[in-house]
Amino acid sequence: MLAVPRTSIDSGPDVHGAAKLRVKALEKHYGSVVALRPTSLNVMQGEFLTLLGPSGSGKTTLLMMIAGLAIPDGGEIWIDGKDSTYAAPYERDVGVVFQNYALFPHLTVYENVAFPLRMRKYAAADIRKKVMRMLDVVGLPHVADRLPRELSGGQQQRVALARCAVYGPSIILMDEPLGALDKKLRDTMQFEIKRMHREIGSTTLYVTHDQGEAMSMSDRICLMNNGGIEQLGRPEDLYFSPRSRFAADFLGGTNFIPCQILGSEGDRLRLKGPLDVVFSARPPLEGALSAGSRADIVVRPQHIRITKVGETPTGSLPAEIVDRVVTGATTEYRARLADGTVLVVMELTDKTNLRVEPGQNVMLGWHLDNGTLLPTEDKR
Ligand SMILES: Nc1ncnc2c1ncn2[C@@H]1O[C@H](COP(=O)(O)OP(=O)(O)OP(=O)(O)O)[C@@H](O)[C@H]1O
Ligand SMILES: [Mg+2]
Repeated sequence: MLAVPRTSIDSGPDVHGAAKLRVKALEKHYGSVVALRPTSLNVMQGEFLTLLGPSGSGKTTLLMMIAGLAIPDGGEIWIDGKDSTYAAPYERDVGVVFQNYALFPHLTVYENVAFPLRMRKYAAADIRKKVMRMLDVVGLPHVADRLPRELSGGQQQRVALARCAVYGPSIILMDEPLGALDKKLRDTMQFEIKRMHREIGSTTLYVTHDQGEAMSMSDRICLMNNGGIEQLGRPEDLYFSPRSRFAADFLGGTNFIPCQILGSEGDRLRLKGPLDVVFSARPPLEGALSAGSRADIVVRPQHIRITKVGETPTGSLPAEIVDRVVTGATTEYRARLADGTVLVVMELTDKTNLRVEPGQNVMLGWHLDNGTLLPTEDKR
């Protein structure tokens, strides 16, 4: 797997190094609908990059153009340093897996996987070797003679993966390949896909709207919103340094605590938050915040600590617990401030913290490093 250095968090077309796939200002409209705004993206050799975003954000549109299954209205697609913008799908050395496995129903598993090799006129002995090796990779050598309908959904999806990867395409595109599977099978298949990626080493562009899946599988995540790239970076960069309210919220859910900048204090900013409580926070990574401007402190639910009234360090907010839900391993609280702001707090479930009851008055605080500051955005 490729370790992507921090400095390569760049969606621009001019990153140096082994970019397998370069997308430059690619765009697509359907009538008056802008499906993809001009978008630039580099995927490095061997990288596992995930397009993550809500429904309608342009993920499939981007993937279909890279596969050669949709024609761009503008921009370029370069594969291995070759302009492939208008190349036919079969000229691109790109394998595609969709959500609905689309196996040939009348062909056995073996013949399904062999199909791309027969199309490419491989020798019989070679076909046998490659098909059996791929069936091994996806853990299905024992079902080679069955028909697709004699397999479970997860097994069918694994056959689809095998068929896509068997001829060794240098780029594999997957559009929500686990969308139709139940939670448990999804988890297993995520693991299988990662293992296959490690074994085969194909550059992979993976589409999902599931942030957990994106976080656990990807070298980098390209977060899409409204037909464009919202943020591109390593999972931890998006999680810990979201550049926008949308990114903060889409990855993991979070609290936005409105505040006003009072001034700076060494390397920190002093802020006035709800109920006029004064906080410290580190300045945002991008953009300066001047005294008087408004911002949100972004704090994840698991980073807020509940303490008793009276035992509290400065910079804590008094609140009333209004709801408590034990979801299993974690317990989620809703806590309301006197000005009506509701914050979500999450703790590991533990008999001792179940003493915090709805109706109770508490203090809420967090470690300075767990609060990210974002300039307040104009409401779109
Ligand atoms: N063939 C088409 N004709 C008209 N509009 C389209 C077509 N394909 C996509 N769109 C529109 O383009 C936008 C982007 O669609 P796209 O399928 O790329 O989204 P997506 O991110 O893949 O969403 P999902 O998660 O639901 O699959 C949407 O507004 C969609 O309605
Ligand atoms: Mg889609």
